[in-house]
Amino acid sequence: MCGIVGYSGDKKALPILLEGLKSLEYRGYDSAGISLKTQNGIQTIKTKGKIIDLITLITESKIDTSATVGIGHTRWATHGMPNTKNAHPHTTENVALVHNGIIENYREIEAFLKSKGFKKQTDTDTETIAILVEFYLKEGMGFKDAFVEAVKRLKGSFAIASISETDDYIMIAKHESPLVIGVSNGETFIASDVTALIEYTNEFIFLNDGDIAIINKGDFEIFDANLNRVKRNTEKIEWSKEKAQKGGYKHFMIKEIAEEDEAVRNTIQSRIDEDGNVILDELKAETDFLKNIDRITIVACGTSYYAGLSAKPILEKYTGVKVDVEIGSEFRYYDYIYSKNNLFIAISQSGETADTKEPLKMARDKGIKTVSIVNVKESAIARISDHCIYTLAGPEISVASTKAFVSQLAVLYLLAFYIGSLKGKDTRDKAKYLLKIPSKIKEAFELTEPKTKQIAKDYHIYKNFLYLGRGLNYPIALEGALKLKEISYIHAEGYPAGEMKHGPIALIDEKTPTVIVAHSLEPLYSKSLSNCEEIKSRMGKIILISDKVSPLADETVKMPEIDYEFLPFTFVVPLQLLAYYIALFLGNDIDQPRNLAKSVTVE
Ligand code: G6P
Repeated sequence: MCGIVGYSGDKKALPILLEGLKSLEYRGYDSAGISLKTQNGIQTIKTKGKIIDLITLITESKIDTSATVGIGHTRWATHGMPNTKNAHPHTTENVALVHNGIIENYREIEAFLKSKGFKKQTDTDTETIAILVEFYLKEGMGFKDAFVEAVKRLKGSFAIASISETDDYIMIAKHESPLVIGVSNGETFIASDVTALIEYTNEFIFLNDGDIAIINKGDFEIFDANLNRVKRNTEKIEWSKEKAQKGGYKHFMIKEIAEEDEAVRNTIQSRIDEDGNVILDELKAETDFLKNIDRITIVACGTSYYAGLSAKPILEKYTGVKVDVEIGSEFRYYDYIYSKNNLFIAISQSGETADTKEPLKMARDKGIKTVSIVNVKESAIARISDHCIYTLAGPEISVASTKAFVSQLAVLYLLAFYIGSLKGKDTRDKAKYLLKIPSKIKEAFELTEPKTKQIAKDYHIYKNFLYLGRGLNYPIALEGALKLKEISYIHAEGYPAGEMKHGPIALIDEKTPTVIVAHSLEPLYSKSLSNCEEIKSRMGKIILISDKVSPLADETVKMPEIDYEFLPFTFVVPLQLLAYYIALFLGNDIDQPRNLAKSVTVE
């Protein structure tokens, strides 16, 4: 949800800013811009469209490319249409400024500035901040003080970077939007997340909410909300830069699906010993509490929510406690009743999703023990929770989440077996089976890719799809429908197969194909076949995802053998592939689908 980048060093800033913006483009891609501090003052270029459009504009411009200080932004519009005028950086006579987040009191500030004779040129909340800094400069303050005074007046969420005509340093501020400082010899980088900077450094400083910093060519000073000088730890992040590149694949999405086996392997291998004992050092301090939990509440959004739903039956079976899985945007406005020994789990790939973060804070404020399952190190959700279990999926760039999903599942299964064993169940054989899952995922990918591609070729012309599943396959059907919607823009509805007769059956005709996900060992397999009969008799086409071929289906994606309880790991793979190839045949922008953003840091 908007990406920010900045550089101050001895190299040319422009290529670093543009490369950084390319890596951050998944956060927003409706407009982009850069500002450089050149010998002749600040020069700004911005445009509606993607980074590639910005690059074209820069190539045609006369901008001074020798500048060694600059800031950049890629936008996902919140206030004001996605056009060139509203693109960042926003500039005034002496300031250029980029922002990620939402300024809740911008109208109030705007009224104040108007009363002082300042006028806005754009429809954004961000421009108000730039003008406010300008106001304080005009009042006679230096750039640093003007920036600090402006930030003090802001309410809402923000990561801000700003440069001025008067000084050579970059001022930054963070409150509830992500911002990291990358450290290297003689140069300092800033970015919304580490993926933009791993090409240049693996040493990062993660700022706290309320922090303000001065960035100046390898040097930086950080101040807390009370403007006391503070030291923040430097963390090493081991993500390799290759992981954030397409590496020969046409899209990040297909690369990330192909990496799912590795993502799960990395997530589980050091967490299960050879006897099948699950080792979760992250929760060591909570052994007594976990033995006594009487309820688990999972909160998440989007694909992470479906990971929670998929693992719910497994968690309930092995821990023996009731598990609620809730959507973050609903939960935050709901007066939830916790039990005495409730465990709260937040799941988030990005660790930034506002609708997941807020319920987590609410739970924490009520004194509920919180655990998060997060992929991005040191992200807000990871930091706020009492304990964080990282998924080790590596950077996920494609907006449609894939490898994060199976990695989240892996952690949830680990948790089920871990808590189960603390509560006296022998879960060692199950944990050992989990170790086989990476190779099963690989097998599923290799076996189903050609078939899903062929089906996509034949079926990409349809405008509506129904996805049905029962038991463990119901959330998988939901996730399959979500994937199709996200990247193909085809209407797809996921439903529990048993509910078909209570509504969705009215949609069935020769123009609405149904994807049925069914495992031959599932208790209700024969009922899923009855659904196939009902669809057939209404002329509906059937795509069956199953380990068993059925003559009722028009197409069957034959799945490799897998223990029923573990099927979400492999059955989701052909659904991700089907969505991918349908979007490919439609010629869509797969990694950056319209209107979506990878991390949604606003409500
Ligand atoms: C956005 C993304 C989805 C993602 C959801 C939750 O909507 O487009 O792909 O599943 O946010 O994100 P999180 O980072 O919290 O898992």
